[in-house]
Amino acid sequence: MGSVSSDAFKTAMRRFPTGVTVVTSVKNGEPRGVTVSAFASVTLEPPTILICVNREARSYLFISTSKIFCVNILSADQQPLAERFAARIRERQFEGVKYSIDRTGAAVLEGSLAHLDCEVTEEHHAGSHSIFIGRVVSLDVRDGSPLGYFDGAYHDFALEP
Ligand SMILES: Cc1cc2nc3c(=O)[nH]c(=O)nc-3n(C[C@H](O)[C@H](O)[C@H](O)COP(=O)(O)O)c2cc1C
Repeated sequence: MGSVSSDAFKTAMRRFPTGVTVVTSVKNGEPRGVTVSAFASVTLEPPTILICVNREARSYLFISTSKIFCVNILSADQQPLAERFAARIRERQFEGVKYSIDRTGAAVLEGSLAHLDCEVTEEHHAGSHSIFIGRVVSLDVRDGSPLGYFDGAYHDFALEP
C-alpha cells in the first residue's frame, strides 16, 4: 500500500469547502480564541458538537482546563476576525473586539451567524490534536452570508438563509 504525502493530503482537503468559526474560551478571567474549521454536529439528542484543536495552540489549555468553549460561526464580513484569531497573537487578543457572554462565560463575538455555547463532555487525543465533544447549553442565531474557506482562501459563500 502506498503512503500518502502530507502535500497530497493537504491538496485533497483543500477541495473541501468549509465554514469558518472562532472557538472562544476563558481561563482565570482571560478570554482566548482560535480560528477553527474542524467543527461538526455529533448528536441531536442531546445537542452535541465536536471541534478538533491542535494541542500546541494557546487555546488548547484554556478549553481543556475550563472545560467550556463557544463556537462562533462567522459571517462573510467577519474575515478580519478569522485572520486575527489565526494569527498567534500572544496578548490582548480581544483588544477592540466587540463581544458579550452567554451561559459559560466564553466570548460571543458580535455579528456571528450563530454561537453555540458548550460544556466539554469528552476529550480524545488524536495525534497532535484533541477532539473535544461539547454539549450545547445555549445558542443564538442571526441572518447573514457565511464566511467560507476553500482552496486555502477565504470566500463569501454568498448564501442567505
Ligand atoms: C481557515 C482556518 C481554519 C483553521 N482550523 C483549525 C482547526 O480546525 N483546528 C486548529 O487547531 N487550528 C486551526 N487553524 C489554525 C489556528 O487558527 C492557528 O494555529 C492559531 O494561530 C493558533 O493560535 P494560538 O496558538 O495563538 O492559540 C485554522 C486556521 C485557519 C486560517
